[in-house]
Amino acid sequence: MDSHGYAQALVEPFGPRLPLPELVVALNRIYHRFEAQTYDASHDEIFAQLPALWERMGAVARAIAPARRWRILDFGCGTGFEAGQILRVLGAGSIASLMCHDPSPEMLARCRERLAASGANVAFSETPPQEEQFDLVLTNSLIHHLPSVAAFCRQVRTWLRGGGAWIAGHEPNRACYLNPECVALARWLQRRQRLRKAASPAMWLELVQRRLGLRPTVAERAAEAAVREGLFERRPARVAVERLVDFGVPHSEQEALAGRGISLEAVGDALGAGAELVWSESYNFMGAFFEPDPPRAVAARVDRLAAKHPECGAHVAAVWRVAPSAAGDLPPRAESLR
Ligand SMILES: C[S@@+](CC[C@H](N)C(=O)[O-])C[C@H]1O[C@@H](n2cnc3c(N)ncnc32)[C@H](O)[C@@H]1O
Repeated sequence: MDSHGYAQALVEPFGPRLPLPELVVALNRIYHRFEAQTYDASHDEIFAQLPALWERMGAVARAIAPARRWRILDFGCGTGFEAGQILRVLGAGSIASLMCHDPSPEMLARCRERLAASGANVAFSETPPQEEQFDLVLTNSLIHHLPSVAAFCRQVRTWLRGGGAWIAGHEPNRACYLNPECVALARWLQRRQRLRKAASPAMWLELVQRRLGLRPTVAERAAEAAVREGLFERRPARVAVERLVDFGVPHSEQEALAGRGISLEAVGDALGAGAELVWSESYNFMGAFFEPDPPRAVAARVDRLAAKHPECGAHVAAVWRVAPSAAGDLPPRAESLR
């Protein structure tokens, strides 16, 4: 079963009222309305880990066109993380314009606050740009929320001028879930983390509060709102909401084989001729969760795995460039690639 078949089967019992691709987009909008309130506080990994990565990716973009004054699109900008990073790395003076797009007004409001004092020429939009062209497209932790990666890649090609680049940060890496050694280590670390959590009174308190409905998760709040707003006939299960919102995140080898997870090769095919992968890095060999300072024995095991399978970390980031002569040279429709 492919990833669309898998997701369709998951939501069918709850009477979905929209076709799957529209449901993914609409549910993401509802989910991120709630997530916006806690996003920055609950994503340590983004703020601890990714600035150094964005420093490297920004340097790659600068090397592509050192003298450029950049016209930039930040797609799925959220609270403004990657916009802040690119302003830091390139400097406001070398940015001609920055458009921040997010379909969630709540996310966009926080992005506006974060960038208020940036001194850059920034615009904010709940609708994606149609006709405009850019030198640089930024995404971070975004494409796994989309119903079709291939359709998005076509869109990226229409936005990018020849010689422009797409910096795609922090996506779930399909290769990790297809590597039995990586899967085994991540499972072992997950069990270890569960045992550690079981020893924490705060965790038990949280569990009781959740069971009593005193502390609903973002997915549970989104499930209720989704019924109120006519997306489903019945309240969807938490896991169905999570799988739809994180539409491209694999949780097992089976899901990766069904097409969940980002594959650089598939993205390259979908971007088409004239687009070139100029830089990529895979990281997080402990699996999808973040532990900044693991014990030495664990760190040594993780380092050995990273040395053996450097392309199979749980996350991947990449910089793509469109050849100067190739703007508007669009790839053929590749819907089967999703
Ligand atoms: C995990 S957050 C990442 C936010 C930000 N890029 C960051 O890294 O901090 C995902 C963001 O993607 C946005 N998003 C979800 N579906 C989208 C879509 N179809 N088009 C554009 N943005 C979308 C959400 O509203 C949310 O702000």
